[in-house]
Amino acid sequence: MKFASVALFLALIAFAYARELQLAEPCDEDICKAPMCRCSSVNIPGGLAPRDTPQFVTLTFDDAVTVSNIATYRSLLYNRKNKNNCPIGTTFFVTHEYTDYTIVNELYNRGFEIALHSISHKADQEYWRDASYERLMREIGDQKHQVAHFANIPINSIHGLRSPFLQMSGNTTYQMMASADLTYDLSWPTIKYTNPGLWPYTLHYQSIQDCIIPPCPTASLPGTWIIPMISWSDLEGGPCSMVDTCYYNPGPDNEEGWFNLILKNFERHYLNNRAPFGFFIHEWYVRINPGLGRALTRFLDMINNLNDVFMVNANEVINWVQNPITVDQYAKRQCKSWTPSQCRQTACNGITGNHTEKIYYMRVCRNCPRVYPWLNNPLGE
Ligand SMILES: *[C@@H]1O[C@H](CO)[C@@H](O)[C@H](O)[C@H]1NC(C)=O
Ligand SMILES: *[C@@H]1O[C@H](CO)[C@@H](O)[C@H](O)[C@H]1NC(C)=O
Ligand SMILES: [Zn+2]
Repeated sequence: MKFASVALFLALIAFAYARELQLAEPCDEDICKAPMCRCSSVNIPGGLAPRDTPQFVTLTFDDAVTVSNIATYRSLLYNRKNKNNCPIGTTFFVTHEYTDYTIVNELYNRGFEIALHSISHKADQEYWRDASYERLMREIGDQKHQVAHFANIPINSIHGLRSPFLQMSGNTTYQMMASADLTYDLSWPTIKYTNPGLWPYTLHYQSIQDCIIPPCPTASLPGTWIIPMISWSDLEGGPCSMVDTCYYNPGPDNEEGWFNLILKNFERHYLNNRAPFGFFIHEWYVRINPGLGRALTRFLDMINNLNDVFMVNANEVINWVQNPITVDQYAKRQCKSWTPSQCRQTACNGITGNHTEKIYYMRVCRNCPRVYPWLNNPLGE
């Protein structure tokens, strides 16, 4: 009894202490070590030489997964393998509205990663910039349960976040991520550390990363990894963190131009410190730029034929950074495995929510929700 109350007391102190944020101190590589900690730096994990380092490529798609964009994903990604014969990875940052959860289930069953991008995706930068811990728990923390529920995928397969409009809310975003048990954030652009590129790191200590879309975290926030969005350079050298924001681009039908642009950006990583190469894009942008679509296919065909390049789910990059091994060892490893998950496909027609007048059509892997799921009622009960 006495022991229990002392333990409770200590737990309460630990809790209060954890809520009180401390300013992050400069990072000391002798203290901050893998697998739990890593200083922000351009050094290759494990002190590997570039030629011994696997070049990871993280292709990501944002927003709702629907019957219209799945066609692109199927033709671009399905049955594709890395040179070591393991299936490729791609990460989907899914938003709730209009998402077809039976398709989310399909993507998961193909070995792709399902990650979070908010329930509402509200088109208001300040809403995200000024978001409180509570708001982010409703938008992101609850979305984790929502996606796992409707797509019937394991909740512990969901690790990542991309904030809408890449707008984080300083320390608060990472406090929320720690509570929601999320592993990594892939929303923070860098234009300073592109050559050589910034490797993923944790927030135990001060980050050296440039703050492009403030507010950025300055507290010590253990738990979360940052995968920096290393900017591309467009045709005039302007930075773009998402491919669809490259302002000076080759134009919709120019396959050769797009291929060269992709290659040039890729080589900045591959021929240097091999920081993970991000290809961050929206499906609609590929669709309205057929030349880019063809160039992307060509690029993937090319890298899928290189011994030291691996297209992986973003969370696999974190696993490697936590436990770096040489490219030879990596190529020989067993492929990732996952347990396929059933989908009892159900079409829910004409369901209404109470956040809007809209009528929704929704497909899920379970019984239909009572109302259209939304903030504060993520399961639509
Ligand atoms: C983050 O936390 C630190 C340490 O408490 C504080 O100094 C800083 O102002 C906070 N940043 C924001 C944007 O709230
Ligand atoms: C909307 O639904 C939620 C959850 O059922 C409820 O708490 C809230 O009061 C409802 N709002 C309106 C305006 O009906
Ligand atoms: Zn988005």
